[in-house]
Formats: sequence, structure tokens, C-alpha cells
Amino acid sequence: MPRGLLGTEDLTREEIQAILDRARDFRPGEGQRFQKFDILRGRMVVNLFFEASTRTRTSFEIAARRLGADAVSITASASSVSKGESLVDTLNTLAAMRPDAIIMRHAASGAPHFLQRHLETPIINAGDGTHEHPTQALLDARTILDRGASLEGLRVAIIGDIAHSRVARSNVYLLSKFGADIVLCGPPSLLPKELAQLAPGVTLTNNMDEAIRDAAVIMMLRVQLERQHEASFPASEYFQFYGLRLEHLRLASPEVIVMHPGPINRGREISSEVADSQRSVILNQVENGISVRMAVLERVLAEQGNHGVSAH
Ligand code: CP
Repeated sequence: MPRGLLGTEDLTREEIQAILDRARDFRPGEGQRFQKFDILRGRMVVNLFFEASTRTRTSFEIAARRLGADAVSITASASSVSKGESLVDTLNTLAAMRPDAIIMRHAASGAPHFLQRHLETPIINAGDGTHEHPTQALLDARTILDRGASLEGLRVAIIGDIAHSRVARSNVYLLSKFGADIVLCGPPSLLPKELAQLAPGVTLTNNMDEAIRDAAVIMMLRVQLERQHEASFPASEYFQFYGLRLEHLRLASPEVIVMHPGPINRGREISSEVADSQRSVILNQVENGISVRMAVLERVLAEQGNHGVSAH
């Protein structure tokens, strides 16, 4: 089977560390512009998104171009999927054009795993249903490590709609491999008890103050209304119980950082005062998305053939 990137669950700690280190190589110095490399010159990647995206799709496209590759982006609504073409036929059609990798987002959990079993082209998972979003967790880890030396023993509170969050799952798999102390928090309807079994070092609470106390990292999640078939928590009360406000930060470690994968909904899961505060690293996450995705593309495409892997 070709080696794409389907989830952080499948990666070893060493593989994750190598991607995070390589992402740092690709990042421009303070005040410098992003450099363009020739590492993937002559290669081509296809972005195939069946769900909306701003950050992931754009940063994969920029990352490919910064490495010298060509990138083509397709949205399902503007493709022949809208004329009834099946997922398998769409992927086979694209694969016949011989891209070097397909970056794919789909609403069905497991869709990229199923397709990877039938395709020679490596697939990079850009989010599958409620399952995984591996490059989000990698860029989150890069952002946390930019502010601290280690993930070992770090208290990370992940708060919100855990049940529907592929970001939470990918982060739990990744952070647990590095020995982080992970607390998942949300209303009972959005925090199934079995999530405590996801990985070692995971605890659950429905109490936001308890989750945040002494946390070094607070990771807020978007309420995924598109995946909730019935309202799981009254919208008018959500912010009161699970919205992050300035007063919460006093409970956390003095150096706490506030993260959010975006898109953020101000006044629903996070207040503007927190989102725009000095403690917020939300835009650092976006910036790291480019260098982390460069590292992922290099890893996946370099294994498809030797096109030179030196960044210097
Ligand atoms: N974090 C994230 O996946 O954002 P987009 O949906 O904008 O890609």
C-alpha cells in the first residue's frame, strides 16, 4: 500500500518528531519571507475537498507550491460529484491523471482509508468525518512546542464538542504518544464516556473550571452543528457553560496558551477578548500549517521517488 498520511494514530513518536523538526527547518526566520524550494519540482498534488475549508486547503496548496510542486484544487460542488459520480469513480478518474498525491477531506469517517486500499496514489487525510485530522494535530504540536520544550507531562485541556471532533481525536493520539496529561471537557451529550479509552493519560470532565485548572494549553473546539443530527446542548446556554472567557485564564498556568483549530465562532465557544488576547496562538497555528504541511508533503512524496530532499 502506498504511504500517505491517514492519521496520527498510525504514526510513531519518532515519525511525528521528524515531521515537527522538519517543519521548523521550513519556517522563515523572524521578519523573513517564506523561501521557495525545488524539492518537489515536477511533482503534482490534487486537493479534493468534499467539505468546506479555508485553512487546510489553502495551506496545502501554498505548501506544495513552496516546495516547487504543482497543486490543483477541486471542490466537490464544482466537480462531477454534483452530477452523481461516485467517490470511487471520482478518485479513480483523478488517479488516472497521475498526481503524486491526493489530499482529501470527506464527511465520512474512514473514507480515505477505504480508498487508499484501492489506489496506488498516496492519500493525505485532510479530515474524515469525526475520525481524524492528522495535519491539524501536527501543526498544533508544532505550535505548543514553539512555546515550551516538551509535551511530556504537559496538561492540555481540550474543550467543547469532543464527540464530533476529528481534531480532538488526532490530538489525543499524538499528545498521548509524548506523555501529555490530557483532559477532555464538554457537556455530557458531547463527551461520550468511552473517549477515556482513546489513549493512555486521558481523563474526562463536564466541569470547565476543573479542566482548565493548571492547564498549560487550552484547546477550544468548534461546535460542529453540521454533524449534530439533533441539538445536543441549548445554543443559548453553551457559551455560559463551555465558552472560554478571560476569567477562566486565571485558573490556568500563568503561561497558558489558548488554541483553536478554526473557524472560530466568537461568543459561542470563545470570547473575542480571549481570541484576541496575548495568550491566544490561533494565528500561529494557521502560520505553522504551511511549514508542517510542507514537511508532510516532502515525507509522502519523497518516498514515491528520489527527487532530492535537501532544503538547503
Ligand atoms: N482547522 C481547519 O481544518 O480549518 P478549515 O476547515 O478552514 O480547513
